[in-house]
Amino acid sequence: MSLRIALLGASGRMGQALLQAIAESDDYVLAGALVRPGSQVVGEPACDGTAFTDQPVSALDGAEVAIDFTLPEAFNSNLMACLEAGVPLVIGTTGLASPQMTRLRDVGRKLPVVWSPNMSVGVTLSFRLAEIAAKALGPEYDVEILDEHHRYKRDVPSGTALEFGERIAAARGRKLDDVAEFRGPGKRHQRHRGGIGFSAVRAGAEVGRHTVMFASESETISIRHRASHRGAFVDGALRAARWLEGRQPGLYAMADVLGL
Ligand SMILES: NC(=O)c1ccc[n+]([C@@H]2O[C@H](COP(=O)([O-])OP(=O)(O)OC[C@H]3O[C@@H](n4cnc5c(N)ncnc54)[C@H](OP(=O)(O)O)[C@@H]3O)[C@@H](O)[C@H]2O)c1
Repeated sequence: MSLRIALLGASGRMGQALLQAIAESDDYVLAGALVRPGSQVVGEPACDGTAFTDQPVSALDGAEVAIDFTLPEAFNSNLMACLEAGVPLVIGTTGLASPQMTRLRDVGRKLPVVWSPNMSVGVTLSFRLAEIAAKALGPEYDVEILDEHHRYKRDVPSGTALEFGERIAAARGRKLDDVAEFRGPGKRHQRHRGGIGFSAVRAGAEVGRHTVMFASESETISIRHRASHRGAFVDGALRAARWLEGRQPGLYAMADVLGL
């Protein structure tokens, strides 16, 4: 049976990649395509006989699951609309503030939700590899997390870089807030024992490259992932949408979807 999907952020880079995948597959059908209020594309055809809308209620009408790749400013209203409509949700939006994460956890008690700052199967596996490395190597090894993305990406560090940091800190029994070291102009680049450093590049068309480096004075180990195509995130988001069918309320991660 085709799964009826509402796409939130349907005119964005990820939204367009998802629209194409849904149009080319018999496994999914577009139930609704939400865009920014007042967007020029409202009323234009999206696919499967569905037009772009800026009304969350009509985008969610008849949907079995929603997939949200928008921006943090759209997050609260999208989340509330899905809760009110009772439509399970896959969220890929990054750059969420801490009160938004709290809200997400609250909604997860009433609705099945998958949230991941990176939907790719390879990155989900890399998260686990980073946890194993952090546990085995300990705080003697400096950690530096580098994320490289296209010139339009707004959040720095990337949600994926922060998630690597959270997991490495947790594997070492620490909170990321206590050990994070953000690099940038005018900041002192002093490294503390057990510190987790973040560096970022925003240039060109890079879809997403992450490098996690564990370095001692005598050796360096790097875990590296590069998404060469947005299909890496699209495939994961559609897999998460299918996995949500019939699921109990909860806030799930891609690791749950993949059974890792
Ligand atoms: N989790 C993952 O695997 C993953 C992978 C890639 C990207 N991301 C994240 O996903 C998000 C989207 O990325 P992107 O590259 O597709 O960005 P994008 O091209 O800027 O797309 C964002 C879309 O959201 C739309 N939007 C803004 N406010 C809205 C609202 N109130 N209601 C509905 N739609 C609204 C924008 O509309 P307009 O075009 O009219 O401005 C735009 O189409 C970002 O947070 C990015 O970091 C996550």
